[in-house]
Amino acid sequence: MKINYDVIIIGSGVAGLNTALSLPSDLEVLVLSKDYAWECNTFYAQGGIAVAPNKEDIPLHVQDTLSAGAGHCDKKAVDLLCSEGPKAIRALCKAGFEFDKDENGNLLYTKEAAHSTNRILHAGGDTTGRDLHLFLMQSLKFPILYNTQVIDLLIKDKTCYGVEVFHAEKTFNLYAKKIVIASGGVGSLYEYHTNSRTISADIHGICCEHGIELRDMEMMQFHPTAFVQSNAVRKQLLSEALRGEGAKIVDEDGKRFLFDYDTRGELSPRNIVSEALYEHKKTTGKEVYLDVSDFEKEHFKKRFPGIYFNMNNIGFDLPKQRIPISPAFHYAMGGIKTDFDGKIETIDDLYAVGEVASVGVHGANRLASNSLLEGLVFSRRVASDICNTITCKDKKYDFVNKEIVLEKEGDKKMKNELRSLMWKSAGIVRNQNNLKKALIRVEEMLKLPTGKLIRLRLLTSRVIIQSALKRKTSLGAHYIKGES
Ligand code: FAD
Ligand code: SIN
Repeated sequence: MKINYDVIIIGSGVAGLNTALSLPSDLEVLVLSKDYAWECNTFYAQGGIAVAPNKEDIPLHVQDTLSAGAGHCDKKAVDLLCSEGPKAIRALCKAGFEFDKDENGNLLYTKEAAHSTNRILHAGGDTTGRDLHLFLMQSLKFPILYNTQVIDLLIKDKTCYGVEVFHAEKTFNLYAKKIVIASGGVGSLYEYHTNSRTISADIHGICCEHGIELRDMEMMQFHPTAFVQSNAVRKQLLSEALRGEGAKIVDEDGKRFLFDYDTRGELSPRNIVSEALYEHKKTTGKEVYLDVSDFEKEHFKKRFPGIYFNMNNIGFDLPKQRIPISPAFHYAMGGIKTDFDGKIETIDDLYAVGEVASVGVHGANRLASNSLLEGLVFSRRVASDICNTITCKDKKYDFVNKEIVLEKEGDKKMKNELRSLMWKSAGIVRNQNNLKKALIRVEEMLKLPTGKLIRLRLLTSRVIIQSALKRKTSLGAHYIKGES
Protein backbone atom coordinates (compact mmCIF):
# COMPACT_ATOMS: atom_id res chain seq x y z
CA MET A 1 0.00 0.00 0.00
CA LYS A 2 1.16 3.53 -0.85
CA ILE A 3 2.22 5.44 2.27
CA ASN A 4 3.33 8.87 0.99
CA TYR A 5 0.82 11.51 -0.11
CA ASP A 6 0.69 15.20 -0.81
CA VAL A 7 -2.31 15.69 1.46
CA ILE A 8 -3.97 13.45 4.02
CA ILE A 9 -7.44 14.47 5.21
CA ILE A 10 -8.79 12.95 8.42
CA GLY A 11 -12.58 12.73 8.09
CA SER A 12 -15.16 12.29 5.37
CA GLY A 13 -17.80 14.81 6.48
CA VAL A 14 -18.54 18.09 4.73
CA ALA A 15 -15.28 19.70 5.92
CA GLY A 16 -13.04 16.84 4.82
CA LEU A 17 -14.78 16.10 1.53
CA ASN A 18 -15.08 19.73 0.50
CA THR A 19 -11.39 20.29 1.28
CA ALA A 20 -10.61 17.36 -1.03
CA LEU A 21 -12.95 18.68 -3.73
CA SER A 22 -11.32 22.09 -3.58
CA LEU A 23 -7.81 20.68 -4.22
CA PRO A 24 -6.41 20.21 -7.75
CA SER A 25 -6.72 16.65 -9.07
CA ASP A 26 -3.00 16.34 -9.82
CA LEU A 27 -2.24 16.27 -6.08
CA GLU A 28 -2.10 12.89 -4.38
CA VAL A 29 -4.75 13.12 -1.70
CA LEU A 30 -6.01 10.46 0.68
CA VAL A 31 -9.18 10.82 2.75
CA LEU A 32 -9.38 8.74 5.93
CA SER A 33 -12.64 7.66 7.45
CA LYS A 34 -13.00 5.88 10.76
CA ASP A 35 -16.07 3.90 9.66
CA TYR A 36 -18.19 3.91 6.51
CA ALA A 37 -17.72 7.28 4.82
CA TRP A 38 -21.31 8.31 5.51
CA GLU A 39 -21.15 7.60 9.24
CA CYS A 40 -20.56 11.22 10.23
CA ASN A 41 -22.58 14.16 11.54
CA THR A 42 -22.81 15.70 8.09
CA PHE A 43 -24.90 12.75 6.91
CA TYR A 44 -27.44 13.30 9.70
CA ALA A 45 -27.87 17.07 9.23
CA GLN A 46 -31.51 17.98 8.86
CA GLY A 47 -32.47 21.66 8.86
CA GLY A 48 -30.19 23.00 6.16
CA ILE A 49 -27.48 25.51 5.37
CA ALA A 50 -27.73 29.13 6.46
CA VAL A 51 -26.72 31.62 3.78
CA ALA A 52 -27.61 35.20 2.96
CA PRO A 53 -30.07 35.11 0.02
CA ASN A 54 -28.81 38.50 -1.22
CA LYS A 55 -26.04 41.03 -0.57
CA GLU A 56 -28.24 43.13 1.71
CA ASP A 57 -28.73 40.18 4.07
CA ILE A 58 -25.00 39.58 4.68
CA PRO A 59 -24.66 42.18 7.50
CA LEU A 60 -27.82 40.81 9.08
CA HIS A 61 -26.50 37.25 8.94
CA VAL A 62 -23.33 38.56 10.61
CA GLN A 63 -25.42 40.29 13.26
CA ASP A 64 -27.57 37.21 13.98
CA THR A 65 -24.45 35.02 14.25
CA LEU A 66 -22.79 37.46 16.66
CA SER A 67 -25.90 37.77 18.83
CA ALA A 68 -26.47 34.01 19.01
CA GLY A 69 -22.76 33.69 19.90
CA ALA A 70 -23.39 35.94 22.94
CA GLY A 71 -20.61 38.38 22.08
CA HIS A 72 -17.95 35.64 22.13
CA CYS A 73 -17.43 35.21 18.34
CA ASP A 74 -14.42 36.45 16.40
CA LYS A 75 -16.00 39.18 14.28
CA LYS A 76 -13.52 38.74 11.41
CA ALA A 77 -14.24 35.00 11.24
CA VAL A 78 -17.98 35.71 11.19
CA ASP A 79 -17.52 38.31 8.41
CA LEU A 80 -15.67 35.69 6.37
CA LEU A 81 -18.31 33.03 7.01
CA CYS A 82 -21.21 35.24 5.99
CA SER A 83 -19.57 37.05 3.08
CA GLU A 84 -17.89 33.98 1.54
CA GLY A 85 -20.95 31.78 2.23
CA PRO A 86 -22.89 32.80 -0.90
CA LYS A 87 -19.82 32.09 -3.07
CA ALA A 88 -19.40 28.61 -1.54
CA ILE A 89 -23.09 27.85 -2.10
CA ARG A 90 -22.93 29.12 -5.71
CA ALA A 91 -19.94 26.81 -6.31
CA LEU A 92 -21.89 23.88 -4.88
CA CYS A 93 -24.93 24.62 -7.07
CA LYS A 94 -22.72 25.15 -10.12
CA ALA A 95 -21.22 21.73 -9.52
CA GLY A 96 -24.75 20.31 -9.68
CA PHE A 97 -26.07 20.17 -6.12
CA GLU A 98 -29.84 20.71 -5.94
CA PHE A 99 -31.46 22.55 -3.04
CA ASP A 100 -35.25 22.42 -2.67
CA LYS A 101 -37.08 24.83 -4.96
CA ASP A 102 -40.67 25.97 -5.44
CA GLU A 103 -42.75 25.13 -8.50
CA ASN A 104 -41.26 28.13 -10.33
CA GLY A 105 -37.69 27.00 -9.72
CA ASN A 106 -36.94 29.56 -7.00
CA LEU A 107 -34.81 28.41 -4.07
CA LEU A 108 -36.86 27.80 -0.92
CA TYR A 109 -35.43 29.43 2.19
CA THR A 110 -36.78 28.48 5.60
CA LYS A 111 -36.35 30.01 9.06
CA GLU A 112 -34.75 28.64 12.19
CA ALA A 113 -34.41 30.03 15.68
CA ALA A 114 -32.50 33.30 16.18
CA HIS A 115 -32.39 34.06 12.44
CA SER A 116 -34.08 37.36 11.69
CA THR A 117 -34.93 36.32 8.11
CA ASN A 118 -35.62 33.18 6.10
CA ARG A 119 -32.12 32.15 5.01
CA ILE A 120 -31.89 28.38 5.43
CA LEU A 121 -31.53 26.39 2.22
CA HIS A 122 -32.47 22.74 2.45
CA ALA A 123 -32.47 19.60 0.33
CA GLY A 124 -34.72 16.55 0.29
CA GLY A 125 -36.96 18.39 2.79
CA ASP A 126 -35.18 17.53 6.02
CA THR A 127 -32.40 15.31 4.62
CA THR A 128 -30.02 18.11 3.69
CA GLY A 129 -27.02 16.32 5.21
CA ARG A 130 -27.66 13.02 3.47
CA ASP A 131 -28.17 14.69 0.08
CA LEU A 132 -25.11 16.89 0.51
CA HIS A 133 -22.93 14.00 1.64
CA LEU A 134 -23.98 11.80 -1.26
CA PHE A 135 -23.29 14.63 -3.70
CA LEU A 136 -19.82 15.33 -2.26
CA MET A 137 -18.96 11.61 -2.30
CA GLN A 138 -20.09 11.26 -5.91
CA SER A 139 -17.95 14.27 -6.89
CA LEU A 140 -14.83 13.08 -5.06
CA LYS A 141 -11.84 12.34 -7.27
CA PHE A 142 -9.52 10.96 -4.59
CA PRO A 143 -9.49 7.63 -2.72
CA ILE A 144 -11.00 7.12 0.72
CA LEU A 145 -9.56 4.60 3.14
CA TYR A 146 -12.53 3.32 5.15
CA ASN A 147 -12.52 1.78 8.62
CA THR A 148 -9.29 3.57 9.38
CA GLN A 149 -8.89 5.22 12.73
CA VAL A 150 -6.21 7.82 13.26
CA ILE A 151 -4.61 7.04 16.60
CA ASP A 152 -1.78 9.57 16.57
CA LEU A 153 -0.37 12.54 14.70
CA LEU A 154 3.28 12.17 13.67
CA ILE A 155 4.82 15.34 15.03
CA LYS A 156 8.50 16.16 15.43
CA ASP A 157 10.10 19.57 16.07
CA LYS A 158 6.80 21.39 15.62
CA THR A 159 6.10 19.89 12.18
CA CYS A 160 3.46 17.32 11.32
CA TYR A 161 4.63 14.51 9.04
CA GLY A 162 1.57 12.31 8.90
CA VAL A 163 -0.65 10.06 10.94
CA GLU A 164 -0.52 6.73 12.68
CA VAL A 165 -3.57 4.65 11.85
CA PHE A 166 -5.30 1.46 12.89
CA HIS A 167 -6.71 -0.36 9.89
CA ALA A 168 -7.52 -4.04 9.28
CA GLU A 169 -6.12 -5.03 12.68
CA LYS A 170 -2.79 -3.37 11.92
CA THR A 171 -1.11 -0.19 13.05
CA PHE A 172 1.00 1.72 10.52
CA ASN A 173 2.06 5.21 9.45
CA LEU A 174 0.92 7.32 6.50
CA TYR A 175 2.97 10.38 5.53
CA ALA A 176 1.99 13.61 3.78
CA LYS A 177 3.25 17.10 3.05
CA LYS A 178 0.08 18.56 4.52
CA ILE A 179 -2.33 17.02 7.00
CA VAL A 180 -5.90 18.26 7.48
CA ILE A 181 -7.92 17.33 10.57
CA ALA A 182 -11.64 17.28 9.74
CA SER A 183 -12.71 14.75 12.34
CA GLY A 184 -15.83 16.47 13.73
CA GLY A 185 -16.96 17.09 17.30
CA VAL A 186 -17.18 15.27 20.62
CA GLY A 187 -20.75 13.87 20.80
CA SER A 188 -19.99 10.43 22.20
CA LEU A 189 -18.55 11.94 25.37
CA TYR A 190 -22.13 12.66 26.48
CA GLU A 191 -24.82 10.24 27.62
CA TYR A 192 -27.53 11.82 25.47
CA HIS A 193 -26.49 13.11 22.07
CA THR A 194 -27.62 13.43 18.47
CA ASN A 195 -24.23 12.59 16.92
CA SER A 196 -22.86 9.82 14.74
CA ARG A 197 -21.11 6.96 16.56
CA THR A 198 -17.79 7.98 14.95
CA ILE A 199 -17.69 11.28 16.81
CA SER A 200 -15.72 10.44 19.91
CA ALA A 201 -13.12 13.19 20.36
CA ASP A 202 -10.09 11.01 19.55
CA ILE A 203 -8.24 13.73 17.70
CA HIS A 204 -9.01 16.33 20.36
CA GLY A 205 -7.37 13.92 22.84
CA ILE A 206 -4.38 13.43 20.54
CA CYS A 207 -4.02 17.23 20.39
CA CYS A 208 -3.95 17.33 24.20
CA GLU A 209 -1.11 14.78 24.17
CA HIS A 210 0.86 16.98 21.76
CA GLY A 211 0.15 20.24 23.58
CA ILE A 212 -1.96 21.64 20.72
CA GLU A 213 -4.35 24.30 22.00
CA LEU A 214 -8.07 23.57 22.27
CA ARG A 215 -10.09 26.76 22.63
CA ASP A 216 -13.58 27.49 24.08
CA MET A 217 -14.03 23.87 25.12
CA GLU A 218 -16.64 24.83 27.73
CA MET A 219 -18.90 25.93 24.87
CA MET A 220 -20.95 22.82 24.15
CA GLN A 221 -24.34 23.12 22.47
CA PHE A 222 -27.41 21.16 23.57
CA HIS A 223 -30.18 20.93 21.00
CA PRO A 224 -33.55 21.41 22.72
CA THR A 225 -35.67 19.09 20.63
CA ALA A 226 -34.41 15.53 20.65
CA PHE A 227 -36.45 12.40 21.22
CA VAL A 228 -34.36 10.63 23.84
CA GLN A 229 -36.78 7.94 25.01
CA SER A 230 -35.27 5.20 22.88
CA ASN A 231 -32.39 2.78 23.30
CA ALA A 232 -30.59 4.12 20.26
CA VAL A 233 -27.23 5.66 21.15
CA ARG A 234 -27.74 8.47 18.64
CA LYS A 235 -30.90 10.23 19.68
CA GLN A 236 -33.40 11.31 17.02
CA LEU A 237 -33.22 15.03 16.32
CA LEU A 238 -36.38 16.99 15.61
CA SER A 239 -35.15 19.82 13.43
CA GLU A 240 -35.38 23.43 14.48
CA ALA A 241 -36.93 24.04 11.06
CA LEU A 242 -40.09 22.47 12.52
CA ARG A 243 -40.32 25.35 14.97
CA GLY A 244 -39.26 27.78 12.26
CA GLU A 245 -42.35 26.67 10.35
CA GLY A 246 -44.79 26.69 13.26
CA ALA A 247 -44.25 23.72 15.61
CA LYS A 248 -44.83 24.57 19.25
CA ILE A 249 -43.26 23.47 22.51
CA VAL A 250 -45.86 22.71 25.17
CA ASP A 251 -46.01 21.01 28.52
CA GLU A 252 -48.46 18.26 29.42
CA ASP A 253 -51.17 20.88 30.09
CA GLY A 254 -50.64 22.34 26.62
CA LYS A 255 -48.99 25.50 28.01
CA ARG A 256 -46.45 27.25 25.72
CA PHE A 257 -44.21 27.95 28.69
CA LEU A 258 -41.18 29.17 26.69
CA PHE A 259 -42.65 32.69 26.65
CA ASP A 260 -42.11 32.78 30.43
CA TYR A 261 -38.37 32.57 29.69
CA ASP A 262 -37.92 34.66 26.52
CA THR A 263 -40.28 36.77 24.43
CA ARG A 264 -39.10 34.97 21.30
CA GLY A 265 -40.70 31.75 22.57
CA GLU A 266 -39.96 28.78 20.29
CA LEU A 267 -37.64 30.93 18.18
CA SER A 268 -35.28 31.90 20.99
CA PRO A 269 -31.62 30.86 20.59
CA ARG A 270 -30.95 27.17 21.14
CA ASN A 271 -29.26 27.54 24.53
CA ILE A 272 -32.19 29.54 25.93
CA VAL A 273 -34.73 26.94 24.78
CA SER A 274 -32.63 24.07 26.18
CA GLU A 275 -32.21 25.80 29.54
CA ALA A 276 -35.94 26.64 29.70
CA LEU A 277 -36.88 23.02 28.98
CA TYR A 278 -34.53 21.83 31.68
CA GLU A 279 -35.86 24.36 34.24
CA HIS A 280 -39.51 23.77 33.39
CA LYS A 281 -39.21 20.00 33.73
CA LYS A 282 -37.28 20.37 36.98
CA THR A 283 -39.54 22.93 38.66
CA THR A 284 -42.93 21.59 37.53
CA GLY A 285 -42.13 17.89 37.09
CA LYS A 286 -44.13 18.05 33.89
CA GLU A 287 -43.26 16.33 30.60
CA VAL A 288 -42.62 18.63 27.63
CA TYR A 289 -43.54 18.01 24.02
CA LEU A 290 -43.05 19.20 20.49
CA ASP A 291 -46.49 19.77 19.02
CA VAL A 292 -46.57 19.59 15.22
CA SER A 293 -50.34 19.17 14.92
CA ASP A 294 -50.79 22.44 12.99
CA PHE A 295 -49.08 20.86 9.98
CA GLU A 296 -51.28 19.28 7.36
CA LYS A 297 -50.31 15.58 7.05
CA GLU A 298 -49.39 15.43 3.35
CA HIS A 299 -47.36 18.63 3.61
CA PHE A 300 -45.56 17.33 6.71
CA LYS A 301 -44.63 14.07 4.98
CA LYS A 302 -43.23 15.95 2.00
CA ARG A 303 -41.44 18.70 3.92
CA PHE A 304 -40.02 16.53 6.74
CA PRO A 305 -39.80 13.03 5.22
CA GLY A 306 -36.84 11.89 7.36
CA ILE A 307 -38.45 12.82 10.66
CA TYR A 308 -41.83 11.47 9.54
CA PHE A 309 -40.30 8.14 8.52
CA ASN A 310 -38.08 7.70 11.60
CA MET A 311 -40.79 8.64 14.10
CA ASN A 312 -43.39 6.60 12.26
CA ASN A 313 -41.07 3.60 12.51
CA ILE A 314 -41.11 3.81 16.28
CA GLY A 315 -44.86 4.18 16.44
CA PHE A 316 -45.59 7.92 16.31
CA ASP A 317 -48.54 9.10 14.28
CA LEU A 318 -47.28 12.46 12.99
CA PRO A 319 -48.27 15.23 12.78
CA LYS A 320 -51.24 14.30 15.00
CA GLN A 321 -49.31 12.98 17.98
CA ARG A 322 -47.08 15.23 20.06
CA ILE A 323 -43.52 14.06 20.74
CA PRO A 324 -41.89 14.05 24.20
CA ILE A 325 -38.68 16.04 23.93
CA SER A 326 -35.54 16.69 25.86
CA PRO A 327 -32.31 18.55 25.14
CA ALA A 328 -29.37 16.42 24.00
CA PHE A 329 -25.74 17.21 23.30
CA HIS A 330 -25.49 18.36 19.70
CA TYR A 331 -22.47 20.42 18.74
CA ALA A 332 -19.03 21.54 19.95
CA MET A 333 -18.43 25.26 19.45
CA GLY A 334 -14.95 24.87 20.88
CA GLY A 335 -12.17 22.92 19.23
CA ILE A 336 -8.65 23.08 17.86
CA LYS A 337 -7.61 26.71 17.61
CA THR A 338 -6.85 27.73 14.03
CA ASP A 339 -6.29 30.88 12.03
CA PHE A 340 -8.72 31.92 9.27
CA ASP A 341 -7.06 29.52 6.79
CA GLY A 342 -7.48 26.57 9.13
CA LYS A 343 -3.78 26.54 10.06
CA ILE A 344 -2.76 25.35 13.50
CA GLU A 345 -0.26 28.06 14.15
CA THR A 346 2.01 26.10 16.50
CA ILE A 347 2.55 23.09 14.19
CA ASP A 348 3.72 23.40 10.58
CA ASP A 349 1.77 21.64 7.82
CA LEU A 350 -1.18 20.85 10.08
CA TYR A 351 -4.72 22.22 9.55
CA ALA A 352 -8.09 21.77 11.25
CA VAL A 353 -11.47 22.54 9.72
CA GLY A 354 -15.16 21.97 10.40
CA GLU A 355 -16.62 21.10 13.76
CA VAL A 356 -13.26 19.93 15.15
CA ALA A 357 -11.83 23.42 14.66
CA SER A 358 -12.31 26.63 16.55
CA VAL A 359 -11.87 29.40 14.01
CA GLY A 360 -14.07 31.71 16.06
CA VAL A 361 -17.34 31.77 14.12
CA HIS A 362 -19.67 30.29 16.72
CA GLY A 363 -18.64 32.02 19.94
CA ALA A 364 -20.61 30.83 22.95
CA ASN A 365 -23.54 29.43 20.97
CA ARG A 366 -23.79 28.46 17.30
CA LEU A 367 -26.54 29.97 15.20
CA ALA A 368 -28.65 27.21 13.62
CA SER A 369 -27.41 25.85 10.28
CA ASN A 370 -24.14 27.78 10.36
CA SER A 371 -22.09 24.61 10.73
CA LEU A 372 -22.47 23.12 7.27
CA LEU A 373 -21.76 26.60 5.96
CA GLU A 374 -18.59 26.78 8.07
CA GLY A 375 -17.50 23.42 6.64
CA LEU A 376 -18.04 24.63 3.08
CA VAL A 377 -16.45 28.06 3.50
CA PHE A 378 -13.38 27.25 5.58
CA SER A 379 -12.52 24.04 3.69
CA ARG A 380 -12.08 26.21 0.59
CA ARG A 381 -9.74 28.48 2.53
CA VAL A 382 -7.73 25.47 3.79
CA ALA A 383 -7.43 24.09 0.24
CA SER A 384 -6.36 27.46 -1.07
CA ASP A 385 -3.65 27.80 1.60
CA ILE A 386 -2.41 24.27 0.83
CA CYS A 387 -2.17 25.13 -2.87
CA ASN A 388 -0.23 28.30 -2.09
CA THR A 389 2.27 26.66 0.24
CA ILE A 390 2.78 23.04 -0.87
CA THR A 391 6.17 22.30 -2.39
CA CYS A 392 7.37 19.37 -4.50
CA LYS A 393 10.00 18.47 -1.90
CA ASP A 394 9.18 15.27 -0.01
CA LYS A 395 9.29 15.52 3.77
CA LYS A 396 11.34 12.60 5.06
CA TYR A 397 11.05 11.22 8.53
CA ASP A 398 10.76 7.73 9.92
CA PHE A 399 8.51 7.32 12.91
CA VAL A 400 8.67 3.97 14.65
CA ASN A 401 5.33 2.49 15.69
CA LYS A 402 5.18 1.91 19.41
CA GLU A 403 3.22 -0.95 20.95
CA ILE A 404 -0.17 0.59 21.64
CA VAL A 405 -3.10 -1.06 23.34
CA LEU A 406 -6.20 0.66 22.01
CA GLU A 407 -8.76 -0.98 24.25
CA LYS A 408 -8.60 -2.89 27.50
CA GLU A 409 -11.14 -4.85 29.44
CA GLY A 410 -13.13 -2.44 31.59
CA ASP A 411 -12.82 0.47 29.16
CA LYS A 412 -16.45 0.17 28.09
CA LYS A 413 -17.67 0.48 31.66
CA MET A 414 -15.47 3.53 32.12
CA LYS A 415 -16.75 5.01 28.85
CA ASN A 416 -20.30 4.77 30.15
CA GLU A 417 -19.35 6.24 33.50
CA LEU A 418 -17.64 9.13 31.72
CA ARG A 419 -20.71 9.76 29.54
CA SER A 420 -22.93 9.97 32.56
CA LEU A 421 -20.43 12.18 34.42
CA MET A 422 -20.14 14.59 31.48
CA TRP A 423 -23.91 14.76 31.04
CA LYS A 424 -24.52 15.49 34.71
CA SER A 425 -21.54 17.79 35.40
CA ALA A 426 -20.58 19.48 32.15
CA GLY A 427 -24.04 19.41 30.57
CA ILE A 428 -26.80 21.98 30.12
CA VAL A 429 -26.54 23.33 33.67
CA ARG A 430 -23.22 23.48 35.51
CA ASN A 431 -21.89 24.53 38.87
CA GLN A 432 -18.38 24.73 40.29
CA ASN A 433 -19.01 22.02 42.84
CA ASN A 434 -20.07 19.38 40.34
CA LEU A 435 -17.37 20.40 37.90
CA LYS A 436 -14.68 20.08 40.59
CA LYS A 437 -15.93 16.62 41.56
CA ALA A 438 -16.01 15.59 37.91
CA LEU A 439 -12.44 16.79 37.43
CA ILE A 440 -11.25 14.75 40.40
CA ARG A 441 -12.93 11.62 39.00
CA VAL A 442 -11.52 12.16 35.50
CA GLU A 443 -8.02 12.60 36.96
CA GLU A 444 -8.50 9.33 38.88
CA MET A 445 -9.60 7.53 35.73
CA LEU A 446 -6.61 8.90 33.83
CA LYS A 447 -4.31 7.19 36.35
CA LEU A 448 -5.86 3.77 35.70
CA PRO A 449 -4.30 1.35 33.21
CA THR A 450 -6.65 1.87 30.25
CA GLY A 451 -6.50 1.51 26.49
CA LYS A 452 -5.51 4.53 24.40
CA LEU A 453 -8.98 5.30 23.01
CA ILE A 454 -10.66 5.85 26.38
CA ARG A 455 -7.61 7.86 27.46
CA LEU A 456 -8.18 10.23 24.52
CA ARG A 457 -11.81 10.68 25.59
CA LEU A 458 -10.69 11.36 29.15
CA LEU A 459 -8.14 13.93 28.03
CA THR A 460 -10.77 15.80 26.01
CA SER A 461 -13.29 15.61 28.84
CA ARG A 462 -10.70 17.02 31.21
CA VAL A 463 -10.20 20.07 28.99
CA ILE A 464 -13.98 20.61 28.76
CA ILE A 465 -14.30 20.48 32.54
CA GLN A 466 -11.24 22.64 33.15
CA SER A 467 -12.47 25.27 30.68
CA ALA A 468 -15.90 25.22 32.32
CA LEU A 469 -14.31 25.66 35.73
CA LYS A 470 -12.34 28.66 34.51
CA ARG A 471 -15.43 30.47 33.25
CA LYS A 472 -17.12 31.51 36.47
CA THR A 473 -20.17 33.27 35.01
CA SER A 474 -22.76 32.10 32.52
CA LEU A 475 -22.20 32.89 28.88
CA GLY A 476 -24.17 31.48 25.97
CA ALA A 477 -24.26 27.69 26.18
CA HIS A 478 -22.16 27.75 29.34
CA TYR A 479 -24.96 28.05 31.87
CA ILE A 480 -24.11 28.15 35.56
CA LYS A 481 -26.65 27.68 38.29
CA GLY A 482 -26.30 26.80 41.92
CA GLU A 483 -23.24 26.69 44.20
CA SER A 484 -20.33 28.85 43.11
P1 FAD B 1 -18.41 15.19 10.46
O1 FAD B 1 -19.41 15.33 9.38
O2 FAD B 1 -18.93 14.77 11.78
O3 FAD B 1 -17.30 14.17 9.96
C1 FAD B 1 -16.27 13.74 10.82
C2 FAD B 1 -15.47 12.66 10.13
O4 FAD B 1 -14.28 12.39 10.86
C3 FAD B 1 -16.17 11.34 10.00
O5 FAD B 1 -15.93 10.82 8.71
C4 FAD B 1 -15.48 10.45 11.03
O6 FAD B 1 -15.48 9.07 10.69
C5 FAD B 1 -14.08 11.00 10.96
N1 FAD B 1 -13.25 10.71 12.14
C6 FAD B 1 -13.47 11.05 13.43
N2 FAD B 1 -12.47 10.62 14.20
C7 FAD B 1 -11.60 9.98 13.38
C8 FAD B 1 -10.39 9.28 13.59
N3 FAD B 1 -9.83 9.16 14.80
N4 FAD B 1 -9.79 8.70 12.51
C9 FAD B 1 -10.32 8.79 11.27
N5 FAD B 1 -11.47 9.45 11.03
C10 FAD B 1 -12.10 10.04 12.07
N6 FAD B 1 -25.48 21.78 10.92
C11 FAD B 1 -26.01 22.63 10.03
O7 FAD B 1 -25.37 23.58 9.62
N7 FAD B 1 -27.28 22.40 9.56
C12 FAD B 1 -28.04 21.35 9.97
O8 FAD B 1 -29.15 21.19 9.51
C13 FAD B 1 -27.49 20.47 10.92
N8 FAD B 1 -28.22 19.43 11.39
C14 FAD B 1 -27.62 18.53 12.23
C15 FAD B 1 -28.32 17.40 12.63
C16 FAD B 1 -27.71 16.44 13.41
C17 FAD B 1 -28.47 15.22 13.83
C18 FAD B 1 -26.36 16.62 13.83
C19 FAD B 1 -25.67 15.60 14.68
C20 FAD B 1 -25.67 17.76 13.46
C21 FAD B 1 -26.28 18.71 12.67
N9 FAD B 1 -25.60 19.86 12.26
C22 FAD B 1 -26.17 20.71 11.36
C23 FAD B 1 -24.18 20.03 12.60
C24 FAD B 1 -23.35 19.58 11.40
O9 FAD B 1 -23.97 18.48 10.78
C25 FAD B 1 -21.94 19.19 11.78
O10 FAD B 1 -21.39 20.14 12.64
C26 FAD B 1 -21.08 19.10 10.55
O11 FAD B 1 -21.67 18.22 9.63
C27 FAD B 1 -19.69 18.64 10.92
O12 FAD B 1 -18.99 18.35 9.73
P2 FAD B 1 -17.50 17.86 9.81
O13 FAD B 1 -17.09 17.56 8.43
O14 FAD B 1 -16.71 18.83 10.59
O15 FAD B 1 -17.57 16.53 10.70
C1 SIN C 1 -31.65 21.31 13.08
O1 SIN C 1 -32.11 20.95 12.00
O2 SIN C 1 -32.32 21.67 14.04
C2 SIN C 1 -30.17 21.26 13.26
C3 SIN C 1 -29.62 22.48 12.70
C4 SIN C 1 -28.24 22.71 13.20
O3 SIN C 1 -27.69 21.95 14.01
O4 SIN C 1 -27.68 23.72 12.77
